Order: sequence, then structure tokens, then C-alpha cells
Amino acid sequence: MLPFRKLLTLVLLVSQAWAIPSGAAERYDFKEYKVKEALLRPPVGWTLVGEAPPDHTISLRVGLPQSNFEALEQHLFEVSDPDHSRYGQHLSKEEVEELVAPPPESLKMVNAWLKAHGFKEIELDRSPAKDWVSIKVPVKIAEQMLRTKYHIWKHEESGDKLVRTTSYSLPEELHDHIEVIQPTTMFSRFNAMKSTIHWPEAEKKASITYKPPTTASNARLAAVDPSCSSEITISCLHQLYNTGGYVQKATEKNSIGITGYLEQFANFADLKLFYEEQVPEAVNSTFEVVTVSGGLNPQAPEEAGFEANLDVQFAFGLTHPVPGTYWTTGGRPPFKPDLTTPENTNEPYADWVDFVLKQKTVPYVISTSYGEPEQTVPEAYARRVCNSFAQLSARGVSLIFASGDGGVGDGWDDPERHRCRTNDGRNITRFLPTFPTTCPYVTSVGGTTGVPEISVFFSGGGFSDYWPRPAYQDRHIKEWFKTIPTDLYKDLYNPAGRGFPDVAAQGTNFRVYVGGVAFPIGGTSASSPAFAAVVALLNDARLAKGRRPLGFLNPVLYAKGYAGLNDITGGHPNPGCGTSGFNSTVGWDPITGLGTPDFVKLKEILT
Ligand SMILES: *[C@@H]1O[C@H](CO)[C@@H](O)[C@H](O)[C@H]1NC(C)=O
Ligand SMILES: *[C@@H]1O[C@H](CO)[C@@H](O)[C@H](O)[C@H]1NC(C)=O
Ligand SMILES: *[C@@H]1O[C@H](CO)[C@@H](O)[C@H](O)[C@H]1NC(C)=O
Repeated sequence: MLPFRKLLTLVLLVSQAWAIPSGAAERYDFKEYKVKEALLRPPVGWTLVGEAPPDHTISLRVGLPQSNFEALEQHLFEVSDPDHSRYGQHLSKEEVEELVAPPPESLKMVNAWLKAHGFKEIELDRSPAKDWVSIKVPVKIAEQMLRTKYHIWKHEESGDKLVRTTSYSLPEELHDHIEVIQPTTMFSRFNAMKSTIHWPEAEKKASITYKPPTTASNARLAAVDPSCSSEITISCLHQLYNTGGYVQKATEKNSIGITGYLEQFANFADLKLFYEEQVPEAVNSTFEVVTVSGGLNPQAPEEAGFEANLDVQFAFGLTHPVPGTYWTTGGRPPFKPDLTTPENTNEPYADWVDFVLKQKTVPYVISTSYGEPEQTVPEAYARRVCNSFAQLSARGVSLIFASGDGGVGDGWDDPERHRCRTNDGRNITRFLPTFPTTCPYVTSVGGTTGVPEISVFFSGGGFSDYWPRPAYQDRHIKEWFKTIPTDLYKDLYNPAGRGFPDVAAQGTNFRVYVGGVAFPIGGTSASSPAFAAVVALLNDARLAKGRRPLGFLNPVLYAKGYAGLNDITGGHPNPGCGTSGFNSTVGWDPITGLGTPDFVKLKEILT
């Protein structure tokens, strides 16, 4: 393998070859427009309401090609591979930016196009590597730039409205210099994965295949408070995941973050109530709130978010006194017809990750409990957002995502509504993997329930239709395929895809304070911050020894970390799309991944 410095030199040489005489953004007459992207037909469930108001502002994100993403990916895998000499040698912000910077020719052509439409540099919002440029434009200008017509579309089931188009064009000369532009064809409605709903009906339908786990850790589990079977508290998780007696040694160097979207506000007063009850030593502590894209932070009790409170109470409660950050990200896709004020109408992951990539220091572990079916996010765009996550991972950040709450599909409560139809024009039944948890550069967390732990029926799992199986999980997934009947669910999923989840944690009945009252809340939304907290404690053990934090976890988890996870071998399958879904089995499976954490064992293996 080439050492990193050498590779970087090669990259620099290549970019020299692209260099063109400067005199950037000179006049250029664009000629022939050609369709860049078109949907075969409007996505299922959406109907056209009418023309978009010409003065409605949209925030167009333009993705330029990244000069050397393959090299970035190689660095990421090397610095995350415990058997590689570069393990832990994470890249700097600048090194990452150099690898994903667009070729100068692309920058020049896109600048010329923006200039031709009257944009000045000061009106452009660029990502640090300049691989994204965002502009706020009225619909009428976007329509000229993209030779298209925007309409208001309505999602029949929810009533949500979006301003979108089903096709757009670009000058032919630009096709190689722009990978994606959104919002155009993206009809996503992304969701928080928490739920306060009880699911007795679905639970009855999901046949139980419980077998008691056979691992030796069961003497310890037998000592867990019986109450933890019906209600999860901080103490329960300390007992289940063996974090109980751990004394932190590197708190001031450590960090953990929680992302928040969709007007989910984390409430300080609720955190205090929660701490009084469950973590009394933390009662005077708080966390930092960071605003992204105009996100707000109201503190009235009725503004407290179930998702936000669940995430901060458990992530920060389990890791106290590690400094915690909560990002409140503004922008929400639905179009509000009464507003013509600037409004972001994209999914917000890209905004969040752009913001965080601009920071010199980023928390070492970050949990996100939001997601949506892959197919609602156009592939080219999903890829670019996932590549941005790779940039953070390469810098040594562990990105943890909930695996989804719809089993192999997008829900189970009403079989008529959750038929899992493809929106590619074929309208056939297919499992619905969840984005962004299927991104191969993040760690996906599924759900368990009970003591001893068994798989929970809503746990999102399966295989990506966008990303192939990464090498790090090859061995484990091949073993799993041996356990299922040949041709099981043939054509319903992509057996060569990235399998998810990677790991699991408890996902039912977390005792959370919201608006001054304790509620039982569940979902893989709960599993993700619980797992992230264990990672933060493992980072403490590494930092205390003067080592780098764990960073991107998957290569090390599949190579050897699995021996420090409790393999979940029984429980409910995760039904959906008219099937009974997948079972949890010995080894990796598409419902609980490699299993739930045993901190003491993981510390032994990973620190
Ligand atoms: C929290 O602050 C109050 C008031 O200053 C103090 O009385 C109490 O001992 C503090 N509690 C902890 C656990 O630090
Ligand atoms: C898709 O197929 C289902 C079942 O055959 C049908 O009810 C539905 O109307 C179809 N939707 C579209 C958009 O063709
Ligand atoms: C799950 O396990 C049950 C009981 O052993 C079995 O009948 C079923 O076929 C299994 N399903 C899959 C998808 O492997």
C-alpha cells in the first residue's frame, strides 16, 4: 500500500494536469440543453396540485464531481482497518478537502454558468472543498437555469406538499461537471424514528422464534434488574451493556453529538428532571446547542421533542460528564403555500454534514435517528451525501445511525398502506432499505427488546439497493446466506447489497421525560444513541492511553469487535412488504447485525 503522503503527491500531480489558464468564470456561451435527470413518472402517492409560485424561493444544491473520492475511500478503509499499519491515523480536514475538491475545469465551467445567470461569488454558499455550491433562487430563475417547470406536488397520505419537477436539463457542456442538482426530482419525506405507539397487533402478527441466547455472558444478564424487561433506564443500559463500574479518565478530551431535525427541540428542564431521577450526579450539567441552517431552540415545555429528548437524555445520561453537543438543523421539506420567504426544501442531512465538515473539531461520535426509504432519495444525491459522511469518518468520527422502524419495509400497522411498491415505474413489491443508514461509511444500529435481549419486530434491516456489500462485511454476510433457504425472497431485495444493521441495542420502553412527564418511548431511535454512548466510553479508554478515538467502526467491528458483542440469536423476525422478514440468527443477521455491546469485552479488544 502506498503511504498517504505519497498518494497525496500523486493526486497533486494529477490535478496539475487539469489546470487550465486562469481568468476564471470568463464568458461562455452555453448552447444545447440536454436532459440531465428525469423520472419515468411521478412517484407513487404524489399528485400534481398546480404550478409553483414563480417567486417561491428554493435553495438549489449543485454537486460538482469530486476529483478523487476513490482515494479518500481507500484512506478511510486503511485508517479504520485494525490490521493496517495506518490504523487510527485519521486524515485532517485539509487532507480530506484536497481529495474531494472538484477538478478546476468543473469549477470553472460551473462558475461560468452561474455567472451567465447573474450570480456573484458572494451569493454562493460553497462547501469547504467546493464540491457543493448552493444558491437561493426564485422558482422562475431555477426554471430558466434548468429548462424545466416546477410544480406543487401533494403527498396524498400525509397532505405534505413539495415544490418539485420530474425532469431537468443542463447545457450539454455541463453534464460532466455537475453530478446532481436538488431539489428537483427528490420526493423524500424524511422521518424521525422514534415512536410512542404500542404495537400489540403487529407484535401478535410477528411470530416469535425466541431461543434463549447461548453465550456465556448470561450469568451477568441473569443479575439485571427484572424491571428492565418492561422499562429501560440508564441503570438498565449500564447493566445490560456492562458500562456500570467504568470510571472515565479522559473526559475533557472526549465528545459526543446528537443531530436534530424537523423542529425537534431538546429541552433543558426535561433533561434536569431525567437526571434527578436517573443520573443524580449529572443534575447540574447541560449540553451545547449548535444551530445549523436557521434551526431554533425554543424551551417552552410544549416545544420539547420526543425524539430530541430521547436522544439527549440517553446519550448524555450514559456518558456524563463527556461534553455533549446537540445540533438543531432548520429546513424541512414540506412546502408552505403561504410563504414566499427563503426556505430550504431539501432533505437536511446535506446541510448538516456541510456545516460540520466546515468545523475544525467535530465530536468523536455522533448519533442520528432519522431516515427514509432509499428509493425516495435519488441515487446520485444519496451517493453524494454518503460521500460527505465518508469525509467525516476519515477524520476519525464514528457516525451512528438508527436502522429504521419498519422492518424490511416501511411499516407494518396497515398492510394496505405498506405494500412496498417501487417508485421506478415498475410498481412492483420490493423491500425498502433505509437511507442514510445503508451508507457503507456509517454504522447502522438495529433494535432489541427484553432481558435477555431478543430481536424486536420493527428493527429495520436488509440490503441496500444503492451500495454494494463492502469488503469489511463480506465474510459475515456470506456465513449468514448459508443459514437461509436458497432464493428466499428472491427479487425482493439485492443480495449483493450492503447489509444492515451492523449492530443493535435496546429499542423499546425507554423512560424519557417530555414536557415534564415520563413516557415510554421506543424505536431504533433509542438504540442509536444507546450504542453511540458505549462508543464514547470506549473512546475515553483509548484517549486515556494517548490513542486516537475509534473513528469509523465497521471494519474493526467485523474484523474482531464482534467477539465483544452479544450475538442476538432469537426473537421476532422483522416483517414487512407482505413477508415475515428476516430472523435473528447466530452471527450477523439483517435485524440485529453482529449484536449488542459488551463494554468490558469491547474495551479489551478495541482499546
Ligand atoms: C447542583 O447545584 C446545587 C446548587 O448549586 C448544589 O446544591 C448541588 O449540590 C449540585 N449537585 C451536584 C450533583 O453537583
Ligand atoms: C401499483 O400496483 C397496485 C397493485 O397492483 C395498484 O393498486 C396501484 O394502483 C399501482 N400504482 C400505480 C401508480 O400504478
Ligand atoms: C425464521 O424462523 C422460523 C422458525 O424457525 C422459520 O419457520 C422461518 O422459515 C424462518 N424465516 C426465515 C426468513 O429464515
